[in-house]
Amino acid sequence: MTTEAEPKRSELSTARALGRLLPFAKPVLPRLALGAASALGASLLALAMPLVLEQIVGGPIASGDIALIAWGSVSILFLGLAEALMVWLRRWFVLGPATRVEYEIRQSFYARLQRLPVSFHDRWQSGQLLSRMMQDISMLRRWLAFGLVLLVVNVLTIAVGSVLLFRWHWLLGTIFLVTSAPLWYAGYRFEKTYGSLARQSQDQAGDLATAVEESVHGIRVLKAFGRGKHALQKFTRQAETLRETELHKARAIGWIWFWLVLLPDIAFALCLGAGVYLAALGQINTAELVAFFAMATVLRWPMESIGFLFSFMLDARTATDRIFEVFDEDNPIVDPETPTTIANPRGALVFEDVHFRYQDAAARERDLINGVDLVLEPGETMALVGLTGSGKTTLTTLPARLYDVTGGRVTLDGVDVRDLTLEELRRHVGMAFEDATLFSQSVRDNVLLGREDLEPGSAEAEAVLREALSVAQAGFVDDLPDGVDTIIGEEGMSLSGGQRQRLALARAVAARPAVLVLDDPLSALDVETEALVEDALREVLHATTALVVAHRPSTVMLADRVALLEAGRITAVGRHSDLLRESEHYRHVISSLEDEQTRMREREVTL
Ligand SMILES: Nc1ncnc2c1ncn2[C@@H]1O[C@H](COP(=O)(O)OP(=O)(O)OP(=O)(O)O)[C@@H](O)[C@H]1O
Ligand SMILES: [Mg+2]
Repeated sequence: MTTEAEPKRSELSTARALGRLLPFAKPVLPRLALGAASALGASLLALAMPLVLEQIVGGPIASGDIALIAWGSVSILFLGLAEALMVWLRRWFVLGPATRVEYEIRQSFYARLQRLPVSFHDRWQSGQLLSRMMQDISMLRRWLAFGLVLLVVNVLTIAVGSVLLFRWHWLLGTIFLVTSAPLWYAGYRFEKTYGSLARQSQDQAGDLATAVEESVHGIRVLKAFGRGKHALQKFTRQAETLRETELHKARAIGWIWFWLVLLPDIAFALCLGAGVYLAALGQINTAELVAFFAMATVLRWPMESIGFLFSFMLDARTATDRIFEVFDEDNPIVDPETPTTIANPRGALVFEDVHFRYQDAAARERDLINGVDLVLEPGETMALVGLTGSGKTTLTTLPARLYDVTGGRVTLDGVDVRDLTLEELRRHVGMAFEDATLFSQSVRDNVLLGREDLEPGSAEAEAVLREALSVAQAGFVDDLPDGVDTIIGEEGMSLSGGQRQRLALARAVAARPAVLVLDDPLSALDVETEALVEDALREVLHATTALVVAHRPSTVMLADRVALLEAGRITAVGRHSDLLRESEHYRHVISSLEDEQTRMREREVTL
């Protein structure tokens, strides 16, 4: 989440942009079409009313035939009832499919987020993704259910209605349409302003969601540093910006409604004047005049709604763009076309002239990892040391392809990791990080996260769970209120940093990978517990190759060999004691680790 995602409006026309929804909408198109047909039926019934009215006014009313007038009224009543039924049917046909499409898009969106590489998540703010996932996709549901159907039907209604208007009198029809025509222009102008404002407000809402998410996540830090007020100020500014955009939107809507109401009224007034004049000339009779105004009234709402539906369409288009921006993101980390497989991995992990750089602007200039060569023998534990910021964490992300190397290759048992499927690779390479992320679920589910193959609750699953917990020295779970069934994480028990780390380690161990990559996963443990963990690891995972980033001399001493990362390269590999003797930089790094540790001890004492 370093840089803000800067979404652009796609170059496609609105129709083509919205057309991208087609694959999702296809299965429900028949029902959508039925919905549109019902809506069209309702409109045609409404259009029929003025025609019936014309007959009543022209016939029975003129002749004073009460029975016929009654029949006429009853037919109007039936037309009204049938129209109401059609409107109901429209909703009934359309709501189910629209929610279905919403569900499908949301599913795919989530799946896409899961598949996209870490580098994508570095660039995109989580709030942006959240707002796209929730608001934009809901917007599409409303568009499919109402906007699209009404737009099609109202345009058709206007077309049919206009023909009828002209049938009564060409002059009145012309006056009505010409006077109403600016409505379309107003709608068009409105669309331009509103479209970009809508986009802006959706983006800003996304930023706001990010701010809330970050401050909720970082609530402890904010409190500890007394930054609550500052966070509030920042939030207020963002909320203010969003409010201004919303006000702009409201102003634009205000203006369009001004024209929407004014123009048809002018059209009515002009038509009334002209109509009375034409009636006096005997060119149109009363029944036709009444029917004309009845029709104009029926057409008023479809006319007014066009601009509105237009803006709705643009909102939907914006939402589609925002959603497809995520779908369109490149995903360079995918399965190979012809994957290789390693049946029984031995765990020989080799970095061959590996280069890597992050893709953000600041990092693009030079390789952070600049030609790393390193061989880990099967079953060996290799510690990785280097100054802070030297790229240790970065290097550990490469074997499991959280990022792909930008040069050279990483091999597992001689096979380039890019030649394995991601699923297989990640089964062979397990990871645990310093910052232990646990999910809001039970201890058991957290630890067995990587073991989908085990039957939940089976004896084997239980054995794996127990072993992993014991290796990670995580016996404390038995003291939790519900033992291994205790829900932990954001919505459950809060655990200490060391407890979290031990569970994250247990999770990595339970997966029984051939290669274990540990980025300082024991930093929050005291030295004695760390030694116990390492002994247990050694015993249980004697066949596992381990690459362990070490921030403490004690961790380094437990490793078989140590690799020194310096200026993007491995400048020395060997036993701790040998390196101490031979490498000036190694002594410097180790002494800085020791200093760090002394400082931490002193802090513990003073606390
Ligand atoms: N996701 C990222 N995008 C861009 N740059 C990054 C990213 N992660 C790390 N960096 C940069 O890469 C460099 C190396 O970071 P890395 O986390 O690999 O160091 P490290 O050796 O693990 O440090 P430490 O000992 O403090 O954990 C740093 O300059 C950091 O700013
Ligand atoms: Mg690190």
